[in-house]
Amino acid sequence: MKYISSYVASFAIILLLGSVNMFAAEVPVKERVLTESEKFYGTELRSGKKTVHPPFEWGDCTVCHTDAKGEDGLIMDPPDLCSMCHEAKDNKKFIHGPVAAGACTACHDPHESENAKLLVASSINELCTSCHQAKDEFLHKTKNIHPPVKDQCTNCHDPHTEDHLYQLKADGKKDLCVMCHVDKEVWTSTVTDKHGALDRPRKCLECHDPHGSENPKFLVKDTSKELCLTCHSETLVTDETGTKIQNIGKHLDNNPDWHGPILWGDCAACHNPHGSNNLRMLKKPFPRTFYEKFDEDNYICFECHEKEKIQDEFTTTMTNFRNGDKNMHFVHVNKDKGRSCRACHDFHGTKEYPHHLRKKTKFGKINFPIRFIETENGGSCAPACHARRHYDKVTPKINLK
Ligand code: HEC
Ligand code: HEC
Ligand code: HEC
Ligand code: HEC
Ligand code: HEC
Ligand code: HEC
Ligand code: HEC
Ligand code: HEC
Ligand code: HEC
Ligand code: HEC
Ligand code: HEC
Repeated sequence: MKYISSYVASFAIILLLGSVNMFAAEVPVKERVLTESEKFYGTELRSGKKTVHPPFEWGDCTVCHTDAKGEDGLIMDPPDLCSMCHEAKDNKKFIHGPVAAGACTACHDPHESENAKLLVASSINELCTSCHQAKDEFLHKTKNIHPPVKDQCTNCHDPHTEDHLYQLKADGKKDLCVMCHVDKEVWTSTVTDKHGALDRPRKCLECHDPHGSENPKFLVKDTSKELCLTCHSETLVTDETGTKIQNIGKHLDNNPDWHGPILWGDCAACHNPHGSNNLRMLKKPFPRTFYEKFDEDNYICFECHEKEKIQDEFTTTMTNFRNGDKNMHFVHVNKDKGRSCRACHDFHGTKEYPHHLRKKTKFGKINFPIRFIETENGGSCAPACHARRHYDKVTPKINLK
């Protein structure tokens, strides 16, 4: 009876394991000579588990143990024991703590296991977080988890040894990211206006947490504004041309009437943090110079504001910058030598005047004041371009040349 049930049991293993021990399929237990340990433990010892370690399956326990029952100890300790048959797992620059300690059996069952790769836990993430409890808490409490992290830690970390810090499969600051985000590698290296942030020491990790965060896109700060201002609260210099980049933090502190998207905390509404082919890494084009031939496709502003503000020569609704129904936006902007919005507006924040009108405008090397005065139904300016001129949307003003 015993032989029959063992036969059935080992047949079941063969079905379960498929390729693991084809030899056993050809020579059923009842026909072969039992090993020493099978005599002690019976052949049921090896039943039912999903992965059986071949040397254990072979049945000769003395491959690893000093005795057939496995009671007196091992012929040598891991990792040396394992290295008899497996290549070294500690041969690269960075070695995982338990591997360095030779604790192969902290993660692998040397005999058999319900889990793939003889693992002692039912999933990779359970295995990793059984020791890395802070990461377990992080996975359960954090709002936005990076999908490959939720999937399995070994998408990025080698469990044994690697040439990159934290046993990562490539340098974690950028190379690792672009292994999967190939489009970002192409984009960041081919755009005409590259972002200096990527040349900072932590590259992608200056802005993103590789595991996840409370914030959208796993940003390391609550909003893109806060993120940008970690670097843009001082005057920066571009590498290529040595151009000075305005201290935006200071500008916003001094100019508390912030433009809508900045009030929402979203600098990335207009700028692409990974660089772009437009002026100043804008997501859509914007004229590079004070004067520019008007082209509705050249203004990022029309992503949010109506283009009719500039296009309609006469209007009583599309803009308040009009003299009667004569559209003063049209007059200034919509021509071959049109003035770009920067002639009058600041896109980040203003203080002195309403409607994000700037105090001073830069014309060549001169920075001249626009001297705006608001009235009940309009206003007037006296920039260097012309003497004071008035507009009034209710009672059109006549301006002398
Ligand atoms: C590939 C090497 C290897 C083979 C083959 C092997 N063992 Fe082990 N065995 C180990 C290691 C390593 C440990 C120590 C496990 C640990 O550190 O927790 C161990 C531990 C044991 C223990 C102690 C209790 C336990 O499970 O932790 C027993 C009993 C045992 N083995 C029995 C056997 C028997 C019986 C066989 C043959 C059917 C066998 N082993 C085959 C490597 C092996
Ligand atoms: C006597 C040789 C031998 C020894 C000693 C040995 N193994 Fe193995 N091991 C094998 C063979 C054969 C395989 C199956 C072929 C393969 O996957 O390389 C295997 C497979 C494995 C696998 C992969 C299982 C799978 O599902 O793919 C792991 C993990 C493993 N061994 C861990 C260990 C650990 C840990 C030790 C030391 C405690 C050890 N081995 C010692 C021979 C050995
Ligand atoms: C921290 C847990 C952990 C420790 C410690 C550990 N391993 Fe592994 N090992 C894994 C995981 C997880 C896998 C599966 C990797 C995969 O599928 O990408 C694996 C896979 C393997 C494999 C099969 C695939 C391969 O890489 O060849 C072998 C063999 C192996 N380990 C041997 C060892 C040996 C020998 C030691 C001790 C020197 C050891 N492991 C220590 C977690 C560990
Ligand atoms: C048996 C416990 C154990 C398991 C399981 C385990 N680790 Fe570790 N891990 C450690 C120890 C111990 C260290 C070294 C601690 C240290 O240096 O601070 C370590 C270090 C690390 C480090 C480097 C951290 C640092 O600050 O240098 C990473 C990354 C890591 N483990 C990832 C993993 C991943 C991924 C897994 C799952 C495949 C895993 N660990 C499973 C115990 C474990
Ligand atoms: C998308 C790739 C990726 C995945 C998947 C991933 N990590 Fe990491 N991990 C990283 C990078 C990149 C770093 C380096 C972070 C740094 O330099 O600040 C890191 C660092 C670590 C560290 C050391 C620093 C720290 O944060 O404590 C530990 C521990 C760690 N990872 C554990 C895990 C565990 C556990 C998992 C699975 C739950 C996991 N990682 C999944 C990319 C990844
Ligand atoms: C193993 C592949 C892999 C690696 C490595 C990897 N990612 Fe991801 N990442 C993904 C997948 C899959 C998604 C979800 C699908 C998507 O949105 O593209 C994702 C999503 C993201 C997202 C959110 C995308 C969105 O639109 O919501 C960000 C941000 C991100 N990854 C940044 C990084 C950074 C930074 C690194 C390097 C530390 C990195 N990734 C490494 C696979 C990877
Ligand atoms: C200066 C900060 C910063 C750096 C450096 C940075 N990112 Fe981002 N990333 C962001 C912000 C902000 C967003 C959200 C953009 C948005 O809302 O339009 C984002 C979004 C993403 C997304 C989601 C898809 C998308 O394009 O909107 C991915 C994927 C991503 N980043 C990957 C990377 C990778 C890979 C690197 C390194 C090559 C990197 N990031 C470097 C700030 C940064
Ligand atoms: C880690 C530091 C860092 C962060 C965070 C950062 N920047 Fe930058 N940024 C720089 C540096 C350095 C430069 C100057 C070098 C360059 O890009 O030309 C720069 C330049 C710029 C420029 C001018 C680029 C040009 O050459 O035309 C813009 C626009 C800009 N950043 C916007 C942003 C925005 C928007 C954010 C937030 C999404 C942001 N930055 C976050 C470091 C950073
Ligand atoms: C409404 C769209 C918009 C938003 C939102 C926006 N910007 Fe800008 N930004 C622009 C435009 C347009 C320029 C080009 C200005 C010029 O050349 O006159 C610019 C220029 C810049 C420059 C280059 C300044 C220089 O010296 O040339 C930096 C740096 C910058 N922005 C950072 C930021 C930061 C940080 C935020 C969030 C606090 C932000 N921007 C939000 C539209 C925007
Ligand atoms: C992402 C959407 C968005 C983009 C792009 C955008 N704006 Fe705005 N803008 C707003 C919002 C929302 C308001 C209303 C809140 C406020 O007054 O700032 C606004 C208000 C304004 C006002 C003041 C309205 C008033 O009467 O006070 C001016 C002027 C302005 N934007 C100019 C521009 C210019 C010039 C551009 C192109 C460089 C631009 N905007 C691009 C969203 C945007
Ligand atoms: C010659 C100066 C000047 C130029 C150039 C200019 N604006 Fe204005 N803009 C004004 C004045 C003045 C107002 C205030 C009108 C009022 O309410 O009295 C204004 C108001 C606005 C408003 C608030 C709503 C409205 O139309 O009344 C928006 C939005 C706006 N401008 C967008 C733009 C955009 C986009 C550009 C570039 C395509 C631009 N402006 C170019 C002077 C200018």
